[in-house]
Amino acid sequence: MKVIVILYFIALINASLCSNGQWFDGQKCIACSSYCTEGCDETFGCKSCQSGYYLKNGDCVKCDSKCASTNDCVEDYGCVKCTVGTYSVDGNCLPISDKCDSAEGSSNQIFGCLKCVEGYYAKNGDCVEKPKQCIEFDQSSGCTKCSTGYYARNGDCVECDKKCTLCDGSTGICQVCGGNTYQTGTTVCTYCDEYCSNCDNTEQKCLGCQAGRYLNSTTNTCMLCPSNCEVDSCSDGVGCKKCKKGFFLHKQNACIACQSSCNECDSQEGCKQCKEGYTLNKDKGICSGATTILSLLLVALLIVAF
Ligand SMILES: *[C@@H]1O[C@H](CO)[C@@H](O)[C@H](O)[C@H]1NC(C)=O
Repeated sequence: MKVIVILYFIALINASLCSNGQWFDGQKCIACSSYCTEGCDETFGCKSCQSGYYLKNGDCVKCDSKCASTNDCVEDYGCVKCTVGTYSVDGNCLPISDKCDSAEGSSNQIFGCLKCVEGYYAKNGDCVEKPKQCIEFDQSSGCTKCSTGYYARNGDCVECDKKCTLCDGSTGICQVCGGNTYQTGTTVCTYCDEYCSNCDNTEQKCLGCQAGRYLNSTTNTCMLCPSNCEVDSCSDGVGCKKCKKGFFLHKQNACIACQSSCNECDSQEGCKQCKEGYTLNKDKGICSGATTILSLLLVALLIVAF
């Protein structure tokens, strides 16, 4: 409530900023229509309009000249009923199609054409030609079945999903999806993961991945084998089984480098073999460095010197 009151006052303040003969629509100042009859409110615009005009969003809009009567031109919309030979579309009057059946009752001033001549069907008051790809046609609803590669939708023939090999001409439902695709909904085939090498259309899942990737069975996607995974040690459903020397495996999907002084390890602190010049501290799983060699050399030097 408070917010509304505040907004109202803001609108009033803004409205008072508009010059005479203008009103504020919440964002900008708009000139009052010269066809207003009961004055122009500074926050709502026109309250009513002269005959031949209708009120829409505070403005007065001219009624279509083909409107059947001034009473048929209504607020917010425009003309609801047009003169004979025309019909109402979004408040305006359009001529009735020359493809409309001439018999009485085939058309009217409100809805337009209801029945068209042969080879056409009535759609939203207009006459639409029978689609070229149509094989089953109905004068009132249009095409109900289309030829191969097309299906009937709202009387028209539309192209089937390009990934579909066999599509129902009436419903568009894909019966056979092509290549690495599977059927997800009704009219579309969806590709398996783009790196999938073997896609099961019925089970709707990937069964195998392209080289350098492995299948994650949980997510049903093909994941990249870690770059330091041992050759031929990365497989579908498992991931990486063994990393290259100098790396250790983390959760089947990453190979992490051992400590710099370590040659082989199974974790960061799990060195199995140290690099030359380093000795392995078996308890801690780490390599202690060249300092030992340096100190040995130092001792040797000292011995030689004295
Ligand atoms: C598979 O994906 C799940 C979810 O993202 C992840 O937790 C898991 O570690 C992955 N498995 C492998 C082997 O990559």
